[in-house]
Amino acid sequence: MLVIGGGVIGLAVAWRTARRGARNVIVVDPAHGGGAAGVAAGMLAPVTELQYGEEPLLRLGMASNERYEAFAAELSEASGGLDTGYRRCGTIAVALDSDDREELRELYAFHQRLGLDSTWLTGREARRLEPMLAPAVRGALHAADDHQVDPRRLLTALVAACGRAGVLLHRAEAVELLVEDGRATGARLSTDETVTADQVVLAAGPHSHRLPGLPEGVLPAIRPVKGQVLRLHVPEAYRPFLSRNVRAVVRGRHLYLVPRENGELVVGATTEEQGYDTTVTAGGVYELLRDAHELVPGITELPLRETSAGLRPGSPDNAPLLGPTPLPGLVASTGHYRNGVLLTPVTADLVSEYLVTGEVPELARPFTPTRFSSESPVAKASA
Ligand code: GLY
Repeated sequence: MLVIGGGVIGLAVAWRTARRGARNVIVVDPAHGGGAAGVAAGMLAPVTELQYGEEPLLRLGMASNERYEAFAAELSEASGGLDTGYRRCGTIAVALDSDDREELRELYAFHQRLGLDSTWLTGREARRLEPMLAPAVRGALHAADDHQVDPRRLLTALVAACGRAGVLLHRAEAVELLVEDGRATGARLSTDETVTADQVVLAAGPHSHRLPGLPEGVLPAIRPVKGQVLRLHVPEAYRPFLSRNVRAVVRGRHLYLVPRENGELVVGATTEEQGYDTTVTAGGVYELLRDAHELVPGITELPLRETSAGLRPGSPDNAPLLGPTPLPGLVASTGHYRNGVLLTPVTADLVSEYLVTGEVPELARPFTPTRFSSESPVAKASA
């Protein structure tokens, strides 16, 4: 089996499939363990990141969230004891002005209709939980089951676990998909080598649909959506600065702060559709700091350690593409948009299940890569 793309999704699928007995699993990537997850904050927030009209995605996100603790423990053991930074901390979503409060109240009402675990808090109650929040905070909701993981540690653990499970991590770029008699048979690499495989998994994020050799119409375009992120450090003397993930609507703009036990504080993220550019801009950093400062004024005292930008892979409906494509032998595992880190455990389970048994699991069916074609029952049902 050949996996094209060694980001968090490709590595997790390879590891899980090898654990289920698959032999000769190869992952090709010029830099394994990179991609959007290396920039991401690692908030596992299916409840507080819920968007209207995305209920099937909510089910997938909740299923993944429920699997996370066991997945992290298994990965830690399989990687020889590496910690993924998984932490059950909960999330508070806060509103700064009365319009923000209105927006958050609507989200809260939506949670109640769906029976999700979220609790409404006044500004005062929110500050009791997180005393560093600005006195201006007008209201909040607490989602006790939205947690966090450290995506960089997760990637390191996946690389190690793949190695220990016998997965070959080959440093090269796939430059052409090989197709013979209407079936994907492998890839030609930047090293001029050819890898042949009975199944090819495409997990190349926003580059997936651009792979030369991919027949037209097999995959929709996966658009790159840039996110700029800051990493600050909370010195020992200031801890706990924040105790849980903080999401916020600040005058209509969305922001989040993810505090780790080691003092790292991640602030994210911008949402920009400007092609494949990953430049960190003064404007992006300014926007994040301005909003974070309004929300948590003490933040400007903290050392700023890193700025970075990554590309979220956005499918046409912002949900992932999981399972067989119209090209026999080619399996998709891409298009996870804002949810790649959250959806890693469930994606690895569902795609490896398909690879090993040939059956698409029930939970994966709404995410078939063929759903955008006019012939698809999913497309017809939603038309
Ligand atoms: N899930 C957080 C983001 O995409 O910014």
